[in-house]
Amino acid sequence: MQIVICKDADQASKMVAAYIERAIKAKPATVLGLATGSTPIRLYKDLIRRYKEGRIDFSKVHSWNLDEYIGLEPTHPASYRYFMNEQLFDHVNIDKANTHVPDGLAKDVEAAAQAYEDGIKADGGIDIQILGIGSDGHIGFNEPATSLVSRTHVQTLMLGTRQDNARLFFDGKLDEVPTRAMTMGTGTVLDSRTAILLAFGKGKAPAIAGAVEGAISHMNQASALQMHRDAKFFIDEDAASMLTPKNIDFFKAVYADSDLKALENA
Ligand code: F6R
Repeated sequence: MQIVICKDADQASKMVAAYIERAIKAKPATVLGLATGSTPIRLYKDLIRRYKEGRIDFSKVHSWNLDEYIGLEPTHPASYRYFMNEQLFDHVNIDKANTHVPDGLAKDVEAAAQAYEDGIKADGGIDIQILGIGSDGHIGFNEPATSLVSRTHVQTLMLGTRQDNARLFFDGKLDEVPTRAMTMGTGTVLDSRTAILLAFGKGKAPAIAGAVEGAISHMNQASALQMHRDAKFFIDEDAASMLTPKNIDFFKAVYADSDLKALENA
């Protein structure tokens, strides 16, 4: 696991955007795993900027999103398909036919989940998986006690997750937040070649401490990333604030501030 403690969310997002730019230059048909939520919004803005500056060509990129609410139309402003179109896809030259979000309206959700897994495999697997983290440690919508080897499945959402999302995306209306979602499993995420987790703010500090310094446990799904072959955490000082001070010093020593700045634009 590589832990990069950044000055702030802007710096972390720019570094990840620069990483993705380099990856797409090296492999134009990169397969991205994408997340929604408030955390990756700055990253998507910076990817759009880099596209507009002629630095990234998305024409051959494929994408697979982590999750989607069950029962929301793709045209619903809180659906994850809508979010992705609005925050990224509508602003870059990605072919929408190559963008995938789980089908939250499928009649046969089991079959749709299996088809999603099969689709990722047929696409050659995910090169770079972008992740946020829930305050309970969830990645995708894999809530505590989900099997750490789970594949794409239907998940019942915890009240805390629904409250967080009501506040951010449903004008505070908890009743309107679906109770279930279709999500890649934590096992699906572990299959990605590189996993990049972003976390900002003090609210994420306990989940980050558990994921990085805690034992691997299904109670903090992100802790499973300790078993990932190439997991990178780009977090701000607040999200890092509950790590042990000696570990914070160690992680910071790996990158001096000047190195971080250089990497933002590399
Ligand atoms: C979203 C997702 C979730 C979020 C997490 C954090 O596709 O998979 O795991 O990353 O709930 O959400 P924010 O970024 O809104 O704090």
